[in-house]
Amino acid sequence: MKELMQRLREASIQAVLAAGDVDDLEQLRVKYLGKKGELTGILRQMGKLSAEERPAMGQLANQLRGDIEAAIEARREELSRALLEKKLELETVDVTLPGETGRLGHKHPMYNVLDQIKDIFIGMGFEIVDGPEVELADYNFTKLNIDEGHPSREWTDTFYFTPDSRVLLRTQTSPMQIHAMETRPLPIRIIAPGRVYRKDEVDATHSPMFHQIEGMVIDKGVTMADLKATLNLVVEKIYGKGTVTRFRPHHFPFTEPSCELDIQCHKCGGKGCPTCKGEGWIEVLGAGMVHPKVLAGCGIDPDVYSGWAFGMGLERLAMGEYKITDLRLIFENDERFLRQF
Ligand code: PHE
Repeated sequence: MKELMQRLREASIQAVLAAGDVDDLEQLRVKYLGKKGELTGILRQMGKLSAEERPAMGQLANQLRGDIEAAIEARREELSRALLEKKLELETVDVTLPGETGRLGHKHPMYNVLDQIKDIFIGMGFEIVDGPEVELADYNFTKLNIDEGHPSREWTDTFYFTPDSRVLLRTQTSPMQIHAMETRPLPIRIIAPGRVYRKDEVDATHSPMFHQIEGMVIDKGVTMADLKATLNLVVEKIYGKGTVTRFRPHHFPFTEPSCELDIQCHKCGGKGCPTCKGEGWIEVLGAGMVHPKVLAGCGIDPDVYSGWAFGMGLERLAMGEYKITDLRLIFENDERFLRQF
């Protein structure tokens, strides 16, 4: 019996050491130590032994069981360690390889300038409003005191949708003045940025589509002094403190009096240079006091209320700020250009 156990010891330990995976090990455990296993088979023969021999044999059998169990456990650990190492090796990441970075886009330079202007006006209590680009001639012209026959109403200047010249692509953001006065409670403080369209040939300073920002204030007791103070403040925020401005008389049918606002050329300080085309001044916007006829047409009593309005070109502003010399670059969306901002 001792011999049997010795043989079982050798055979089982050898088999355990040769086991290739955890399933093999489990099968071996059943084969040697299970209820119907080989060790149990040997122990069944204990009955044949004398009472003196039995304890020693029992002890031997227990030891053998313990040794086989220990061998199985050791092999199990060995196998799982090997498995882990293999896995780690497979999942190795070379942290020294250059990464794949996605290229992130950013805001268009013109919209940076627009955001800056919105911030300035929001800080002064203005609301930002949006309106239609397809407009009625009534709003684009008539209600703005631009009569039938005015040159800007010509088919050569304006994109019309209908032969009766009633529906068009707005040529200015000024119709937003009318929309605001017709729909909003007084007082009104708004800016309205957006696209406008004119039949212009494309060149370095012209495009059939460009952007304007309309601004308007209507309240009791509003004067030209408010217009000048507000616009001077805006100009200082955009172009820097101490920027010299000039309000030059002009004519718009929907404002009276009307003016254009120039800033002294920041490049040459007014002496004249290529930036200001030798003028010493750069034109920034058109403005004026809202015409009493326009107020009255929108149901606002011009004897009680007054207001001012302005309209400025956004592209021109962005070109000045970023030293862009050709308007076409703003719309071509060439990444080599856009990436510089
Ligand atoms: N709409 C005018 C233009 O396009 C600008 C303007 C707006 C002038 C508001 C006065 C008041 O030239």
